[in-house]
Parts: sequence; structure tokens; C-alpha cells
Amino acid sequence: MAERAQCPGSGSPDFYLHGGELHCEQVPVRELVERFGSPLYIYSAATIRERAKRVRVAFGDTARICYAVKANPNLSVLRLLHEAGCGFDLVSGGELERLAVACLPTDQAVFAGVGKQRWEIEAAVAAGLLFFNVESPYELPLLAAAGEAAGKPVAVALRLNPNVEANTHAYISTGKDENKFGVAIDRAAAVVDEIVANPWLSLVGYHVHLGSQLRAVGPYVQAFERVAAFVDGDAKRSDGVRYYDLGGGFGISYGEGDPLDVAAVAAALLPRLQERGWIPVVEPGRFIVGDAGILVTSVLGEKLQGRAKFLLVDAAMNDLMRPALYQAEHPIVPVLSRPDAEMRTVDVVGPVCETGDFLGRARSLPRCQRGDLLAVLATGAYGASMASNYNSRCRPAEVLVDGEQARLVCRRESFAQLLQREI
Ligand SMILES: Cc1ncc(COP(=O)(O)O)c(C=O)c1O
Repeated sequence: MAERAQCPGSGSPDFYLHGGELHCEQVPVRELVERFGSPLYIYSAATIRERAKRVRVAFGDTARICYAVKANPNLSVLRLLHEAGCGFDLVSGGELERLAVACLPTDQAVFAGVGKQRWEIEAAVAAGLLFFNVESPYELPLLAAAGEAAGKPVAVALRLNPNVEANTHAYISTGKDENKFGVAIDRAAAVVDEIVANPWLSLVGYHVHLGSQLRAVGPYVQAFERVAAFVDGDAKRSDGVRYYDLGGGFGISYGEGDPLDVAAVAAALLPRLQERGWIPVVEPGRFIVGDAGILVTSVLGEKLQGRAKFLLVDAAMNDLMRPALYQAEHPIVPVLSRPDAEMRTVDVVGPVCETGDFLGRARSLPRCQRGDLLAVLATGAYGASMASNYNSRCRPAEVLVDGEQARLVCRRESFAQLLQREI
């Protein structure tokens, strides 16, 4: 019988090699491309469930796990996470609309967002959330008016900017003074005063989110200590407070180093929260879906240019923006391993007319032929969700695998759809 081996670079055991061929759960990846075409996003339901469970075990039954919808907003992924006991972290009226379309409850959802519009505030209040994360003073009168119209005070968590270094890419750091997010702690006293003075607002918690792809426990503890010091500065700042929303940002390995030790974050924070009677709220996105997805792409050809060897593939920066936007490194592996194939160092690049359009640079890969398939690993988060139509390219299809079942959960975009908004 053919051996089952770990897929090198994958953070999930649900992507593995069997007879040298990459599988997702019980399904050969090659078969999925034959059915649904290339490029193709493939997600593992088992990995998504396992990650949600890991967060649950770490933070305990009373914690609210609000999955960050932005990481992967596919309706089927949202349903799966609801079934796994998660609520949702939203950042736009569009994400709220997704919950409505998927018939998912909003009472375990929270709503952050640095520039909310009036309609989004009104829609969120009408939906009835666990709480609403205030990030700017201008939101307060709009929220209070929406609460008054609904005849019920709005549960509010104040998002504080604790000015903590998250040691992550500058574009995904959100908890420093120079970032636009939250209310700086030295300006927060007046905002709390305004909330507690308004009968249509009810202060129920505090929120921080330090950034994405954090790998260390320290920043979470530092942020909590800064919030706690602020809260202890005046009795009215803790009156009625029940939740501490420590945000998301739980990092994964992307083929190198360790993921964030989520259990260690919980072990550090839970005693501090218990002391105050505060319920933990977490907003993981990437940690739950990142390792659960791959992007499969087909080789178009290769060419030499100067000293570089380019492997041209049919997926591009419009399908997966992270390498171009964040210099992100995703492991890339052949879908069919040929151990005797000659290894070469290549830049894996897409068809888009940008030098920044690469999926990986200086990668050691076996010699490929046109039509060979490669899998870009750990692309379940901020992959499909950030895809665009740049160069008038249609966005890829998405498939969710559960055991031996594979289900199309997002159709490949058609040219008719691409053009339908234009007049
Ligand atoms: C407020 C908030 N919460 C949670 C997240 C999720 O982050 P991650 O996917 O890194 O867990 C984000 C990401 O930008 C965010 O802005």
C-alpha cells in the first residue's frame, strides 16, 4: 500500500502526500483540479474544525470565539464555524450581510471597523450584536441615535490602542500609536465619559487588536496590562464591564518557525481576566483558516531571463495578493512529487503585468512541465478574500473538502460577471 507522508511546509495534517500525490483529506488534489479547473482554492473542513477546537480548548467554554470573517468570508466557511461554536468578528456592513444571507445569528457577533458609515452602524444595531466596538468618538452620537430609535441601549466595547509593538509586518500592525485603529489610551478617558453619560449607550467591555500574524505571547499580556491600568484609573471605567476582547492576530508558521502558542496566551490572560470577572473574547481569523487552504495553480511554461529562471503559472497576484502586498512567503510544493526530478531554483510568477506579481521567489522546485500542478500552501486566510479582477482576470473557484466529499462553495467568476456592473 502507498505510504502516507506529511506534506512539507504544510501546517495541517489534512494536506498530505499519498503515493507521492497531494491530498486534501480523502481527495486527491489533482482530481479536484480536473473537476473544477485551475487556479483553484481548496479548503479542508477538518482543519477548520480542529483549529476552532484548539482555540476553544485554550480559552474555555465561557470564552466567545468570534471568527474574523475578513480572513475568509465564504458562506460555507461561516456556516461551518457557526456549527463549531463560533460567533463572528465583523468589520463592514457587507460582512454583516453575509451572516444574514447564510441565516446565521448575530448575537455572538462583534463589529469593529475604523471608519464605519451611518448605515453600517444602524444595520449593526438593528441586527443585535454581542457588542459594538467603538473606534472613534464620531461613532457615539450615531450609535446612541440608533439605540434610541430601537428603544434599547447599545452594548459598546471601546477599542483601545495600547501602543504595543506586535513585531509583525508594518502593514498588519494595528496597535501602535502611528496606526489608525482604536482610541489612544491617553485620549480614552473623555470617550468613556461620553459613553457612560449617554443613556443609550452601555459600556460592556474593552477591545484591543494588535495586528496580524503575531507569534509571541508578550504583546497580548502587555496590551492587557495597559488596558487594566487605564480601567483602574477611575471607577466608572469598570462599571458594567464584562468582556475583554483581546482581538485576533494568532500567527501561523507559513512553513517556518512555530505558530503562536494559543494555549500560552490563554494561560497568561485567563487568570487576570478571572480576577476581574471579565469574559474573554477572541477574534482569530488566520489561525483558523490559514493552514486550512491551498491555492492550486497550473504551470504555463518557463523561461530564462538574465540570471533568473521564471516558472510561469496561471495564478497571479490578483488571486493571492499576500506575496506582493506583504512580502509574504508561502511554501510552494508540486501536487505530484517526482523524487528523481532535477531540482532547480525558480521564481514562481503569474501572468499579471507587474514585476510584483510573484507567488514565490528563489524557490527550489523539481523541473516542471506545462500542465504540472503546484500548490501554494497556507492560503486559506486572506487569499480568496483579497482576490481582485486586476488585468480583467476572473477570480478562482473555491472548493470545501470534508472527508471524501468535495463541494464547490464559490464558482469561478465568468467574464459576464466581470462585466456586469459596467454600463
Ligand atoms: C479587529 C480585528 N480582529 C481580528 C482580526 C483577525 O486577525 P487574524 O486573521 O490575524 O487573526 C483582524 C484582522 O485584521 C482585525 O482587524
